[in-house]
Order: sequence, then C-alpha cells, then structure tokens
Amino acid sequence: MLDAARRLGVDLDSVCGGRGICGRCQVEVAEGEHAKHGITSAAGHLSPADGVERAYAADRGLAAGRRLGCTAAVVGDVVVDVPPESQLFRQVVRKEADAHPIEVDPVVRLYYVELEQPELESAEAELSRLRRALEEEWGLRGLDCDLHVVAELQRALASGTPAARRGVTVAVHDGETLTGIWAGLHDRAYGIAFDVGSTTVAGHLCDLWSGEVLASAGAMNPQIRFGEDLMSRVSYVMLHPGSEAELTKVVRGSLAKLVAELTREAGVERADVLEVTIVGNPIMHHLLLGLDPTPLGSAPFALVVDEALRLAARELGLPVHAGARAYVLPCIAGHVGADTAGMILSEGPHLGDEVNLLVDVGTNAEIVLGNRERLLAASSPTGPAFEGAQISCGQRAAPGAVERVRIDPETLEPRVRVIGCDAWSDEPGFAGVQVTGVCGSGIIEAVAELHLAGVLTTDGTIDGARAAETRRLVADGRTFSYLLHEGQPELVVTQNDVRQIQLAKAALHAGCRLLMDRYGIERVERVRLAGAFGSHIDPVHALVLGLVPDCDPARVTAAGNAAGTGARIALLNRAARAEIEDVVRGVEKVETAVEPGFQEHFVRAMAIPHASDPYARLGAVVALPARRQGRESASAHGASGRRRRRERRPA
Ligand code: FES
Repeated sequence: MLDAARRLGVDLDSVCGGRGICGRCQVEVAEGEHAKHGITSAAGHLSPADGVERAYAADRGLAAGRRLGCTAAVVGDVVVDVPPESQLFRQVVRKEADAHPIEVDPVVRLYYVELEQPELESAEAELSRLRRALEEEWGLRGLDCDLHVVAELQRALASGTPAARRGVTVAVHDGETLTGIWAGLHDRAYGIAFDVGSTTVAGHLCDLWSGEVLASAGAMNPQIRFGEDLMSRVSYVMLHPGSEAELTKVVRGSLAKLVAELTREAGVERADVLEVTIVGNPIMHHLLLGLDPTPLGSAPFALVVDEALRLAARELGLPVHAGARAYVLPCIAGHVGADTAGMILSEGPHLGDEVNLLVDVGTNAEIVLGNRERLLAASSPTGPAFEGAQISCGQRAAPGAVERVRIDPETLEPRVRVIGCDAWSDEPGFAGVQVTGVCGSGIIEAVAELHLAGVLTTDGTIDGARAAETRRLVADGRTFSYLLHEGQPELVVTQNDVRQIQLAKAALHAGCRLLMDRYGIERVERVRLAGAFGSHIDPVHALVLGLVPDCDPARVTAAGNAAGTGARIALLNRAARAEIEDVVRGVEKVETAVEPGFQEHFVRAMAIPHASDPYARLGAVVALPARRQGRESASAHGASGRRRRRERRPA
C-alpha cells in the first residue's frame, strides 16, 4: 500500500521507512461499490495482517478497520482512505472563522534507518554508513552534521536495539543537516512558537507531526522592571551603558522558564523540542538577540538587522534539544517588527486581490495595507491610552475591568460587563461582582456609546445640556464628566479621558489614511483587528469612534493573536519562512513621523468619527447622531493633539 501511495503521489506518512514500527502509514479500506472508479472495494482485497503488523497492533494498538500501509499488500481492487494523522502534509484548521488552515510541513523531520554492519567502527566510518543509509533509503544527499551528533552516534548505535538490528532515528533540519540522533525508533518532535511582547511573553508548544498546540503559556515580560514601555527600556539602556546585557538575560530567562512550563504542562521532554520560532517588535527582537536597541530609540530608527535569523536555540539559552534551531522572523522597519511579519504571514493579505487593512493596536499601532499587488506598512504612535493608561478610570485588561458598555440614549443610564463575568450589570448574575476599572475596549465603547447617545459631540466635547435631568452628567469645572459606575471605586469618564482616546485613535486613523493615500484608494474592503486589544474591540464601536476608516461593520473582524499565529505557521511550515522573507522584502515602508500628510489626517481624525468623512457605510447599519460641535473648536483639539504627539515621539 505504501509503495502504491508513493508511486501515485498520495500523501502517506512514514518515519520508519516501512518497517512496521512507527505506525504513521495507517490506512482504512472504504468498502463497497465505487461507481466512480467502477470497482468493488473490500477489506479482504488487502493481504491479511502479517506478523509485523500483528506485533505492532499488540504493542501499540491498531484501531478496528485500520491497516499498516507498509505491510498490507494490495491483492484486489481497493479504495482506501488516508486519515488526517497519516498524512505527511496535513492541515491544521485554525479557530478563527476566516483564517486559512496551516499546512503541516515542518523544517525538521525524523527518519529511521537500520545499519547492517553489527561491528562498531570509528565514528567517521559510522557516520558515512549512516549518510549512505539515509541517501539510499530516504534520498537525503550530502547531509551536514552537528558536532554533538557525531559524538552521540556511536552511543546511539551501541544502545537501544540488538546489535544485529542497529536502528537509529535521526533529525534532519531543512533537508540539510543532521541535528539529532536517537537509538531505535524515536517519533516525538516538538516545537515552540514564541511571541515576545513588551508586556507579556507567550509560547505555544506544538507537536511537529500533528501540528496541534499541546500547551500554551504566558508570563509578564520581566524587563518591565527596567521600564513599563519600550521607549523607557531603550532610555534605560541609553542611560546605563552595558545594561542591555541585563535586559537580554532576563528576557531569555523568561523564555527558558516558559520552555520548562510548556513541556511540563504537555508532559513532553525538553530534549524533544527540536525547533523554535520567535516574533517580537523591533526592540524586543533586538534585546532578545543581544543587539543594541538604542538606534531604535531615535530617528532614523535603524534596525541593526532586519533579515530573518537562523541560529542554535541553545545560543538563546533555551533548555531544549542540543541540535534545536531557532528561527526569528524578519523585521520590516524600525517600528514595524517581526511581530508584524507574523501578522502578515497569519493573515495573508499578499495572497488575494482584496485590499486588506490589518491593524495591531498597542502602544504603537502597526498597520499593514494591501493585497497581492502591493503591501505597505507603517506604525503609528497611539500611546498607552488603549491599554488603560492615562485614563482616569483606566486599567489593564484583567478580571474586574469594564470591557463592554451600553448607554441608554433616553435615560443615559449605563449597563456594563466586566472581565470575568458573563452577566451585564443589570442582570441577576452580576450581583457581588467587583468592578475595578475600565480597560481599553471598555473605554472605547464608553466613548462611542456617549457619542451614539448624543452626549458627546462630533469634536469630542461631553455636552452637559442634560445635566439637570440625570446624575450621570457631572460638572467638572468648565467641562463635564460621565459617571459610568457608582460605588467603590467610582468610575468616571472625564473630558480629559475622551481627549486621550481621541489622540490615540486619531494617530491610528491617520496612519491608516496615510497608507490608503499611498496606495491610492479611498475605501478599504476589509479590516482585521489583531492583538489582544484588537480582538476585544467591538467593530461597530471601533467604527463609531473612527478608530479605523469607514467600512461595512460586517467586514471589520478580529484576527486574534495574529503575530503568535504567524510564529506558529513558521514553526509548522518550512515554505512559510521563504514566503514571509520574500513578502517582507517587498513591503513599502511608510514612516509616519516624516510624512507631511500625517498631521492633516491626524487633525481631521480627532473628530468623532471624523471631521470630513461621513462614515456612510457605518451609517447604513447604525443610526449615527447628527454632527455637531461642542464649545471648544475642533482646531483647538488638533493643536493640542499635535503637541501631545510630539511629546510621545521618542527622543
Ligand atoms: Fe512505519 Fe508503516 S511506515 S509502520
């Protein structure tokens, strides 16, 4: 069966080379009439199980109806199914509805061979014997060999299996290098995809054979003690020459801990982790690799290295297999890193005709626009408001934080939902829930709802006209605040909070418009919001606020952790690496800081949703309030916006 599959080009897996020990070649006979082929297929048209297959079934179990493709001979007409786990190039279906599946074809593969010569020889002779066997049996020619493999070769040959049948399994990286060797059959190979963020570091441990995620874990980035945000960490390094080594050490330590945690959780050996991939923003990327991040702190924001990197995982201090390799995705520009490359790989805007707008919202928003013809990328300094910082009632997304807000336009009474509780505040299930603050998605909804309720004017002024009829509108000097939550702590949306959100969203919107100008389009057909924050924003509220340019709300969707998914794709699919390197080389970089059009877009984007765009496509779905101005003029906000934006730019 295995021979037939190979000759017909059918994808049927094998690690042991047809010796009946790996069990990867299992097939199922589809019995009955197959009119399409004009044959009658029967289980009896495969030879009965022989001693090898029966031994496999006794040892490792073989489900009813399953046969080993390498032992079952075809003796009559049969139609067989190759179950997904027997396919070499299987697909992993991704959770997000509109994400394309990942084809599993990892860069490292295991091959089993048996060496005939029972006598132990010199390492050199054994190595050439091994190379010959790999060439004859698997067609692997001219393999390089890691030093540690040479050292382990004789040990592997001497142990494990009887001398007469010296079977070994080798790991071959990228079809070129022997990176591991085990006595006997070894069919476990794992990889870890890391997403190194400035706040958190996350890892996903995957089975390199099935493509499945076996464990996921995250930890706070320990560099936080050197500075909350990226720029303060760069400043720290500037002020304390040599301290970058310390920042490198702590983030590597955190990755090493994650390796321990992930392997423990999945119940696998660290030494079976053979491959690692890494994404991160440029500063995290440089610090992890031990490169000087200070050029990224000021114009022209030059990367020390932007190419993808391949190195030994041990060089990064990771406690994995000695021959494991690490692949770091390429960076795009000084503010647009390997995390954005991961997002592109995950979302695939370069694969279709439709022009996509991808946005990863964080303290810096990374923006990618384009399709198969052209891709543009930029970053925009949104500041930390979307993470709840600089907001009077703001907090990070954590249990107790308000994440959903609805305001009744008649009574101006709010309903909220907090992280950790599925009930709305006016439902019985909410009783006793401790509300601690408002996270980014909550503040966006609060501001958008205030606008929809007619309380917040187009220029972002909280209008106190109805203050006499509701306790929710509170005079606050010359401005008004909105009382979102009574109790301890009291949560209030102030005029200044609204301004902070306006500044952040105007920066993001302006970045998007700038890329659209460059591309020469007025409208985008599809918007994908990536990252932890992007995945929690409600598309309608994001549009009401004017966070992104007008679009049909049904075409604005969450992309999940696209950067991390990109790392996982690069882990599971070798071709994806060449693909993303190629795409990244062709990306047109737009530096928002020096683009003259940015300021103009920024000023217009301060309005809610926008000073000149009526948001007709949103308006077709949602009743938008009439446009009106508050007491302060829009241009005054623009001026303050400009000032703030400059403050946020790194020195
Ligand atoms: Fe390994 Fe059939 S190929 S058991």
